[in-house]
Amino acid sequence: MFGEQKVSYSGVQPSGNLTIGNYLGALRNFSEYSQQYKTFYCVVDQHAITVRQVPAELRRRTYETLALYMACGLDPEKNTLYVQSMVREHASLAWILNCFTMFGELSRMTQFKDKSAKHADNINAGLFTYPVLMASDILLYQTDVVPVGIDQKQHVELCRDIAERFNQIYPDTFTVPTPVISKQGMKIMSLADPTKKMSKSDENVNAVVYILDDRDTIIRKFKRAVTDSGSEVRAADDKPGITNLMNIYSCFTGKSLEEIEREFAGVGYGEFKLAVGEATADALAPVQEEFRQRLADKAGLEAQMKRGAEEASYYARRTLSKVEKKLGFVQIR
Ligand code: TRP
Repeated sequence: MFGEQKVSYSGVQPSGNLTIGNYLGALRNFSEYSQQYKTFYCVVDQHAITVRQVPAELRRRTYETLALYMACGLDPEKNTLYVQSMVREHASLAWILNCFTMFGELSRMTQFKDKSAKHADNINAGLFTYPVLMASDILLYQTDVVPVGIDQKQHVELCRDIAERFNQIYPDTFTVPTPVISKQGMKIMSLADPTKKMSKSDENVNAVVYILDDRDTIIRKFKRAVTDSGSEVRAADDKPGITNLMNIYSCFTGKSLEEIEREFAGVGYGEFKLAVGEATADALAPVQEEFRQRLADKAGLEAQMKRGAEEASYYARRTLSKVEKKLGFVQIR
């Protein structure tokens, strides 16, 4: 809570392309939050360097991610959109919270275990304390709700534990946040293996549809999607491939599964897959067009980065100064 207003906070990494799972489960719904909450959306470039980055690419993706936020309907007049490294308070609070987070807690984070297995040659301390920086993002803004994917739930729960621990020693410092897990995005499965979640880092490019894929690519990927035995377009537990495609079609067209079964009664898988590809491409076309326009306006994006950072800093500074005062850091005004 900041004053009377409840706060919603979320972040996205500027690494890799975002998928239709990210779009349907997160980005597309973000704009609604501003009706109910004071909303912050952050491009977390400081999190990105826990694995090696090519500087020019990190920079380019930072612009792209901001442009994509805006293309997905996040109006900068109604939401604070900014870049993490431009608000210095994040790293400052992260150091402090490191001193209130236990080695054992961080060792239990599944993402750390996965990432250290994947990057065995670079298990750096930043990878280990990644969730503490994330907790700082969230707690700096006195956040009430954190819309995230299921994979980030454990990190938000750790953030709650850190906040509660700190509040116990220094009462009334942080709002304790609640994760909000979107159900829709969870249901978007890989096109190559429909028992697995669609993941932006999948090595098989045909398994994943990216928000910025062009029309032909989208249609081709859906044509190649793995389907099940039988020939009926029907949602069922033993038809994970077709069920996944029906879910995607439902998300993009607003039609219910029953309506979709009726629409495609007696129609083969091939024709149905084409329809899903076309519906997806149609729905993404305006987002892609808006993205292109935003990205072409570099000065506009930079002005937004500056403005967003100023807005965010106002809140971040208030929390950090409260924390530092409680800890006994000397403050001279
Ligand atoms: N760790 C998140 C992810 O990889 C991104 C993130 C960083 C985030 N800070 C956050 C999400 C704060 C929500 C709130 O997806």
